[in-house]
Amino acid sequence: MTDYNLLLLPGDGIGTEIMEEVKRVIAWFNDKTDLTFTYEEDLVGGAAYDAHGAAVSDATMEKALSSDAVIFGAVGGPKWDGVPYDVRPEAGLLRLRKDLKLFANLRPAICYPALADASSLKRDVVEGLDILIVRELTGGVYFGEPKEITDIGNGQKRAVDTQVYDTYEIERIAAVAFDLARTRGNKVTSMEKRNVMKSGVLWNEVVTATHKATYKDVELEHMLADAGGMQLVRWPKQFDVIVTDNLFGDMLSDVAAMLTGSLGMLPSAALGAPDPTTGRRKAMYEPVHGSAPDIAGKGIANPIAMIASFAMALRYSFELTRQADLVESAIAAALDKGLRTGDIAEAGAPTVTTVEMGTAILTEMDRLA
Ligand code: NAI
Ligand code: MG
Repeated sequence: MTDYNLLLLPGDGIGTEIMEEVKRVIAWFNDKTDLTFTYEEDLVGGAAYDAHGAAVSDATMEKALSSDAVIFGAVGGPKWDGVPYDVRPEAGLLRLRKDLKLFANLRPAICYPALADASSLKRDVVEGLDILIVRELTGGVYFGEPKEITDIGNGQKRAVDTQVYDTYEIERIAAVAFDLARTRGNKVTSMEKRNVMKSGVLWNEVVTATHKATYKDVELEHMLADAGGMQLVRWPKQFDVIVTDNLFGDMLSDVAAMLTGSLGMLPSAALGAPDPTTGRRKAMYEPVHGSAPDIAGKGIANPIAMIASFAMALRYSFELTRQADLVESAIAAALDKGLRTGDIAEAGAPTVTTVEMGTAILTEMDRLA
């Protein structure tokens, strides 16, 4: 029997409310299957700042480094607007990503049939959509040096950002994308702008070489990132896994996300390098949304993004594919039954609370297991 050891960091605002629903899903697996998840819970974000004066304490960071996966809620809120930049709630998230060296951001775009009419695109275009964007998260233009604004005289200033990618950074993100494609539709589309960017030329070369060396069984396609953006809204079902750099990935993953509906539905994962002995990657799983201060404390947040993030942990950290499928099917079934939190309900339609949605998902897990 394998033990899985998690660190739960609920954070602030609705983070604490939706994490309660994940705990019920964990309890379900502990009670009703032979799996054992153990977890510790700790403070992060504003809650940690209030307690320790830092958005993530060193002790919490130690726990994150020794856990198999971190399950993160959301941080921030108006209460901490005045706190110094270095210790603001969001700094906790950034430190976790940096110290865990999470270089691969996984953003699925899945269209649940029950919500296909909520998309701004036609049902036919999005129904059954299941694509995965793999975004490089620690390199590229957001971090490259020089990065500065200088005075160049005559009342003019010059702003410089630098896109830098080394071979190893492209190799490792390409490997993540190909590995994931093998567990899904077996196709990778790599997106860059080799027509105008040197980093795009290298990206294309390295992805091609990685494919040739190790992943010939996976279909590889290259697309210019702007054309990729068009194809994403024209016919998104042509894609399986998309791999791209930090900047393009930031934009394309947001576009892909909105093909399928509300922020309250969107999970994500961030993965690091595999541990040389266990092979297990450092990983953190979190909803895409923030702490939603406008609805925090009311018990009405949609827990699906958070629960679906836990399902990604089952799939990607623990290779518990059947169990991940079960959680995702239970979410789809609860939606099929017509249950809607406020964020995904049609105007005037009845809504359920966070706990009621959680309960409905557990009921469907009972039924489908
Ligand atoms: P937000 O994602 O918290 O909320 C945007 C809108 O979506 C709000 O109207 C909110 O009520 C709604 N919403 C979000 N998640 C929902 C859910 N699960 N169920 C129902 N409705 C939901 O973004 P916002 O308002 O820009 O930021 C609020 C705070 O969160 C800020 O302090 C921001 O810095 C922080 N933030 C934290 C993130 C993180 O922890 N990863 C990510 C984004 C923002
Ligand atoms: Mg973004």
